[in-house]
Amino acid sequence: MHAKGRGVCCPHNAGMTLTHILEQIVADLKPQAGQSGQVADYIPALACISPSHFGMALRTAEGEQCMAGEGDVPFSVQSISKVFSLTLAMRHLTEAQMWRRIGVEPSGTAFNSLIQLELESGKPRNPFINAGAIGVADRLVTVYGAQGAKTALREFVSDLCGEAIAFDDEVAASEAATGFRNEATANFMKSFGQIDNPVADVLDVYFHQCALRMNCLQLATALSYLCRDGRHPHRDEENVVSNKQARRINALMLTCGTYDAAGDVAFSIGLPCKSGVGGGIVAVVPDRLTLAVWSPALDATGNSLLGMKALEMFVARTGLSVF
Ligand code: DON
Repeated sequence: MHAKGRGVCCPHNAGMTLTHILEQIVADLKPQAGQSGQVADYIPALACISPSHFGMALRTAEGEQCMAGEGDVPFSVQSISKVFSLTLAMRHLTEAQMWRRIGVEPSGTAFNSLIQLELESGKPRNPFINAGAIGVADRLVTVYGAQGAKTALREFVSDLCGEAIAFDDEVAASEAATGFRNEATANFMKSFGQIDNPVADVLDVYFHQCALRMNCLQLATALSYLCRDGRHPHRDEENVVSNKQARRINALMLTCGTYDAAGDVAFSIGLPCKSGVGGGIVAVVPDRLTLAVWSPALDATGNSLLGMKALEMFVARTGLSVF
């Protein structure tokens, strides 16, 4: 565990620190790690990850942090990166530019589904399904150029984290070699005029962002602007995004961050969450803290099975929920 968080008190359980709560959840759930669910095997480089990893970490709005289990072991963030790319795009685009070609409605379909795209003229339902994130990557290529977008994203995430974050080139290459569905999605969107740049450039950015390698503590830190009204994780006087934009990102995470499971997650956890097929989930308690959990075995909706259980336990034990 991280010494800095030893004394962070649980607001609804005065006798417990948040560190103790994380440690207890890890102790309760770790024996189940790898017992059910499946690691993502449609990306070959992720197929060989052991399903028995389990880690958690949190960072409070005031900058206290703690972790338990393998909270400091890096993994492939996959779709959690869609929060970073969306945030970076929102920093550059006006509201009208941002939301004209990407919606803000839950899809009610799988993260890689193509069904709605045909019915809705290639306009993705939201920025967190693959089609939406590919649209966001296209906007970043327009702003920064093909190579520049990858560099800008990596530097942006590193600055939020306070330490250097890298792409896992093997994971990016593995996904590029097998990313037929994402290629279909991007080409389909382009046929409707919803992608401005060459599909290969856009997907190169998208595959690299998904291949960012971070641990739970780094994720909780980097995304802590979402529990700080948009303020930078390390610089109080600086905003990453405005308060209003931070509220919007949280709203999208609550309604669309876990795809077809968003209703279940709102019902049983009640926090804005963003998951990735690497087995990570980040959750935000606005004005209080950002929490990250990692367990690679996924449920049928592509969300970490034990990660969801861990978040449910955290909310039950701390009383921290937006509802
Ligand atoms: O594009 C893909 O399919 C992956 N790189 C990301 C998918 C993902 O993480 C969905 N999250 N649950």
